[in-house]
Amino acid sequence: MIEWSSATIKDFQTTLLTWFDQEGRDLPWRRDHEPYHIWVSEIMLQQTQVQTVIPYYERFMAWFPTVTDLAQAPEEKLLKAWEGLGYYSRVRNMQRCARQLLTDYDGQWPQTAAELTELIGIGPYTAGAIASIAFNEPVPAVDGNAFRVFSRLLEIDDDIAKPQTRQVFERAIAKIISQDRPGDFNQAIMDLGSSYMTARQPDSAHSPVKRFNQAYLDGKELAYPVKTKKPRPVPVDYVAVMAQVDDQWLMMQRPSNGMLANLWTVPFIKVADLALDESYTDAELTAAVNAYFKQEYQLTLTSQCLPVKPVTHTFTHQKWTLRLLAGQVTTPDLAFFPGRLVTTDDLAQLPTPKVQDKVWQRYRQ
Ligand code: ADE
Repeated sequence: MIEWSSATIKDFQTTLLTWFDQEGRDLPWRRDHEPYHIWVSEIMLQQTQVQTVIPYYERFMAWFPTVTDLAQAPEEKLLKAWEGLGYYSRVRNMQRCARQLLTDYDGQWPQTAAELTELIGIGPYTAGAIASIAFNEPVPAVDGNAFRVFSRLLEIDDDIAKPQTRQVFERAIAKIISQDRPGDFNQAIMDLGSSYMTARQPDSAHSPVKRFNQAYLDGKELAYPVKTKKPRPVPVDYVAVMAQVDDQWLMMQRPSNGMLANLWTVPFIKVADLALDESYTDAELTAAVNAYFKQEYQLTLTSQCLPVKPVTHTFTHQKWTLRLLAGQVTTPDLAFFPGRLVTTDDLAQLPTPKVQDKVWQRYRQ
């Protein structure tokens, strides 16, 4: 890691903030410094890119304009607001945090990063972002962008997959961050990280901070950040059963804990839970699924394999492959089934995960 002199630090701050004033993005959550707005946008931005977040953010603010509205939101609407973003536990934690603010903080946000990390679902990055942007506290906000940008600027060789490395970056950034405009400084770093200093195709030659970018000057910026590989997601095979009673669909609600908690899908059954040998025919698969319906739900299902490509969906730790089956249920007593019958028109009312959208899309092909 290289060290900058105080003259270099000053020069860097001026260069960065001048660029940000001229070229910084006009984003909906940058129009004021409301901590609620910063918080919601930052949680969304942890999951996906700015362009995807904008419409989600606008709708979220229309539905839940204040912390109180969020605290009181019905779960279905909350999940609907998050549908497609993934990691639904985040939005549930946001609601818990909103309630915590109302009950324990009299509805007032604490104003320092140290206090903000006491709140549910707020880690060091989000706390740094809120404290610096909303409250002008000169603290770093270290996310993937900051790891990438500063590892290149300073040639920091520590492995960002290791939890201890965060501190190395926080200390380095604490020496460089603008004391007057810490929020703009942190946001300028985010903007650099998604423009001139991207992971795979940086354009350092045109970057406003080119002359500070030691890794670029040494011709090795793609070596940064240093990161050891994570284990691959484990493959898991499923069948997705599009089962109908007349013109209604059999929809199932997932358990309240575990992956995709409380969301609605057609019945997804793990192939490993079916009584099948290592290799099996389509007929053996449908027979096993029909038997499973009888045994688990006391439902009489007649199913067929659909001649379409399986759907695949990758989560952090698992890669799902779903074969599609269609079928009819002839004993529609749902006493033992964790779900209900839904008309095609009402399907859109249910909060569903992205993988279910993919299943419907493949089904309609
Ligand atoms: N990525 C994470 N936070 C961001 C923000 N506030 N603006 C733009 N990109 C971001």
